[in-house]
Amino acid sequence: MSKKVGIARAHTNIALIKYWGKRDKDLFLPMNSSLSLTLDAFYTDTKVVFDDALTADAFFLNGQKQSEKENKKISQFLNLFREYTGERRFACVESLNFVPTAAGLASSASAFAALALATATALDLDLSREELSTFARQGSGSSTRSLFGGFVEWDMGTGTADSMAHPIDDADWDIGMIVLAVDTGKKKIASREGMEHTVQTSPFYPMWVETAARDLQDIKDAIAQRDFERVGQLTEHNGMKMHATTLSANPPFTYWTADSLRAQEAVRQVRMDLNLPAYMTMDAGPNVKVLCRASDMDYLVAALKEYLQAEQILTSLPGCGAYVLLETDWQESERSFSRGVEHD
Ligand code: PMV
Repeated sequence: MSKKVGIARAHTNIALIKYWGKRDKDLFLPMNSSLSLTLDAFYTDTKVVFDDALTADAFFLNGQKQSEKENKKISQFLNLFREYTGERRFACVESLNFVPTAAGLASSASAFAALALATATALDLDLSREELSTFARQGSGSSTRSLFGGFVEWDMGTGTADSMAHPIDDADWDIGMIVLAVDTGKKKIASREGMEHTVQTSPFYPMWVETAARDLQDIKDAIAQRDFERVGQLTEHNGMKMHATTLSANPPFTYWTADSLRAQEAVRQVRMDLNLPAYMTMDAGPNVKVLCRASDMDYLVAALKEYLQAEQILTSLPGCGAYVLLETDWQESERSFSRGVEHD
């Protein structure tokens, strides 16, 4: 009676049409709808235990107790569920990130999607994945999309109840993604601050909102037609436009480093040399992600090794949506996590 447990896994996702800017900061309502690809190779497992015996929430990431600041973020997120259900107990949250440290990928998308599903499971909530995505959204916008697999749209909605994600296509048609992890250090400008500054100061920002809506419609049409090249062209164009808004912010900033530009150049060179379709996108950090055909991935990786170190190149196929794990799965996750750490 005194404990309620929920465990879940969610994969990370990479936006092809970016979420960039909020119209409501407190509710995490976006300025534009976005669309992503969920990735199989990178995920977070999270266990939530509501327990009578606890006097405060506690948060452990990869076995390490987290700072007050991180703890507070998790507590505030759990409050959404406590308010919704009337639950009064505190919880212990344990997360294991199966994102290779070398990937340098933001893990907030998989983290809040896994936390939302684990919490809902612990509290026996009967919510659809769409409804659950409205909770996840209030931890991190991009996590709405990690509740689902394949190509996923986050509809900006009209308010908090309908700003939710839904699946578009399970992406089982020769799609892959290569991550060029050029810099794995912590982000210098968090996405939250970067987008807010951009909304407030970039004269290009209204154009971003306008063209993102068009890009979204076009990419959905291209996905429906399984037109890979069109999906890729729209992905690359949309990502570059997002980054153009940071360069036009005042004062200007960029997530790109010299290594990002070198990686971009490598992609341009390799796709020209091999004459294969491969399209870049970047998020609020320096790493470059490349959308390609799964069947071309080995050739592209081999060619990219001429320009980058092997351990900087990671690959993934499309991943599935978030799902509930059993206690035995969790124990297995803990074992494979500690094996992974030992091998690092
Ligand atoms: O939800 P956040 O804070 O992880 O912001 C994500 C912002 C981008 O990664 C740049 C774009 C996106 O849609 O994921």
